Amino acid sequence: MSLSVLSVASECAPLVKTGGLADVVGALPAAIAPEGITMRTLLPGYPAVLAALGSTQVVADLGPMFGGPVRLLAGTGGGLELLVVEAAHLYDRAGNIYLGPDGRDWSDNPQRFAALCRAAAIIARDGADGWTPDVIHGHDWQAGLVGDYLLADGTRTPVVITVHNIAFHGLADPSLIGTLGLDPRRYTREGYEYWGKVSALKAGLLTATRLTTVSQTYADELMTPEFGMGLDGVMRHRRDALSGIVNGIDEDVWNPATDPDITPYKTPAKKAANKAALRAEFGLPDSDGPLCVVVSRLTHQKGLDLLLEALPTLTARGGQLAILGSGDATLESAYRAAANDPNVGVRLGYDEALSHRLIAGGDAILVPSRFEPCGLTQLYGLRYGTLPVVALTGGLADTVINASPAGLAAGCATGIQFHPVTADALRGALMRLCDLFAQPKLWASLQRNAMKHPVGWGASASRYAALYRDALASE
Ligand code: ADP
Ligand code: GLC
Repeated sequence: MSLSVLSVASECAPLVKTGGLADVVGALPAAIAPEGITMRTLLPGYPAVLAALGSTQVVADLGPMFGGPVRLLAGTGGGLELLVVEAAHLYDRAGNIYLGPDGRDWSDNPQRFAALCRAAAIIARDGADGWTPDVIHGHDWQAGLVGDYLLADGTRTPVVITVHNIAFHGLADPSLIGTLGLDPRRYTREGYEYWGKVSALKAGLLTATRLTTVSQTYADELMTPEFGMGLDGVMRHRRDALSGIVNGIDEDVWNPATDPDITPYKTPAKKAANKAALRAEFGLPDSDGPLCVVVSRLTHQKGLDLLLEALPTLTARGGQLAILGSGDATLESAYRAAANDPNVGVRLGYDEALSHRLIAGGDAILVPSRFEPCGLTQLYGLRYGTLPVVALTGGLADTVINASPAGLAAGCATGIQFHPVTADALRGALMRLCDLFAQPKLWASLQRNAMKHPVGWGASASRYAALYRDALASE
């Protein structure tokens, strides 16, 4: 049976991206098409989204919302079937989609993403462009209010909510309950109230028919106080509805044999040209140790402060670091200072093509995250024979096979994991990395294992398809 699903998200590659959420939202429609699922993606009409739309059609006038007119557009963009919420007063802004020029959340973020949710609920109720979704799949807090709006309308479309990162709750002041059109009777502990605020994420977690997150380990972690970020009780309450489905990567975009940004290669031995080019680009001298790379947001989550502490251990063993990232001002300036070491190269900013050159040119990719719901860059590393050195948490625990004595004996290891997530444990992992790198035969076998490790969407796409069907059957 074919099924129609409306995916609701705040970002979507290749149109607008701040992190892995965009990659996943952009990849899902094509990944699940072979499962008989027709997916359309509902996005806010940011300038980049409107610019990417080919011929568009206005499919509905959604009336005034939060101080301005709102229309629903249908069209294709970035290879995706899109529905777009056109609302210039909410989305026509330069710069970051979540943050104003002062680096803080846009003050009307609750309204901006409530409009997205309201539009999704109207599409479920009335259809759009002659198309009505059987299921809504919402991503993170920005899609959290869909369920409440469906309830208010009496629309019974099942909702699946995926938690990509529970750190972001989408809080709003309760004085906005009326403005947002929420039912004030649901402002309780059993509803969307969270310590005196409206929590869009909590609303979504409680109203969804099914919940998922992006790895099995993170699903387990979410139910613990250490990782649940204040919502672990809600997650435990909904444990029967929760499952972990690991992300895949776009194997066309991330394919070392065809990648236009690098010197293509099919075997790890052929990575050398990329390594030499990367060293030259970052001004790093020749060295016998491993060239480590990082491509990341620079935030507390990613543990890159720990890497700063552990760096001397790496460089003392002949190792080097090339890092591309942007984020916290303190981390940015700390990395700028670290670049005084000739064996450390730093690029602050966001650069897709450079991220490909780093993943192709590195010997190892470092992901020392304090928590990591799934993580994508370690998956790119696997595909490119660039061995991941990762913290044992979330999706990093599920996607890398540790080169422990047992992993090596079984001949299946693909990288290095460390625990706990401390500078000391990271130092130990970097020393293990240097030891393994000094054994070329063993290293090459790890690279071959890594490149063979499945990182595509196949199995996860089937699981999402089964979940949509299950959600529909349960209504
Ligand atoms: P998160 O979503 O938490 O940031 P992920 O590992 O899931 O972490 O996804 C991050 C995505 O953003 C990857 O596609 C990664 O390559 C990309 N990325 C992160 N920082 C940069 C950067 N500075 N330049 C280019 N791409 C980046
Ligand atoms: C979030 C998480 C990251 C995950 C991504 C896509 O941004 O931090 O671990 O890979 O979402 O699901």
